[in-house]
Amino acid sequence: MTKETIRRLKLYLEYLRHAGVEYLPRIGERAPQFPITETHPTSPENSELEAVRRELGECKRCPLWKVRNHLVFGEGNPWATLMFVGEAPGREEDLQGRPFVGQAGKLLDQFLHAIELSREEVYIANILKCRPPGNRTPQPQEVEQCYPFLLKQIQAIKPKLICCLGGVAAQTLTGQKVAITRLRGQFIPWRWGIELFLTFHPAYLLRNPNQKKGAMQDFMKLREKLRGLA
Ligand code: URA
Repeated sequence: MTKETIRRLKLYLEYLRHAGVEYLPRIGERAPQFPITETHPTSPENSELEAVRRELGECKRCPLWKVRNHLVFGEGNPWATLMFVGEAPGREEDLQGRPFVGQAGKLLDQFLHAIELSREEVYIANILKCRPPGNRTPQPQEVEQCYPFLLKQIQAIKPKLICCLGGVAAQTLTGQKVAITRLRGQFIPWRWGIELFLTFHPAYLLRNPNQKKGAMQDFMKLREKLRGLA
């Protein structure tokens, strides 16, 4: 390795450290085994979750169905230990029928990658399953119709941890007006033995990149928690 390569490598590691990365696996080191990829002992499919999808059907419970291209149910490991909950599908999600596949989703993928997780290992869903026009904030009547289905999904998946991405998810799940900036990075006991974890919404981080370091620290806490559960 030349001196120049070493210098560049040092600079890159410094950059990662400033971005909040505190650990890098050595070459050949096995990635830590979280209880994330475990499938149910008897079946890789989750029939309870599939039943929730059937019950939701081609939902017309609120007027958002009139302006949607696709309903975005959620995706990932149907037996995930860790679940992420965002706000509502955006333009790209509405077009593809999948959660977090736009710019914010790419950033979420990066955070997951940094803690050695993939989308396939976790479950990703939203408070609303249909895109509000122009990505406006979900209205209370929309949340009222849609949230019961998210609760049913959670009951079917039985995660141990739910990471709320942003204020709408945090406020809906806690039922309180919470300030993400005050409560982020903390584990909060919730219901059914599940703990909530609050962090910034990736779309907010795209607008406020100076907060990315804090978000990375939050993800590192998630990683430690998962190791503890393993
Ligand atoms: N923002 C969200 O809250 N959810 C998505 O699925 C995409 C962007």
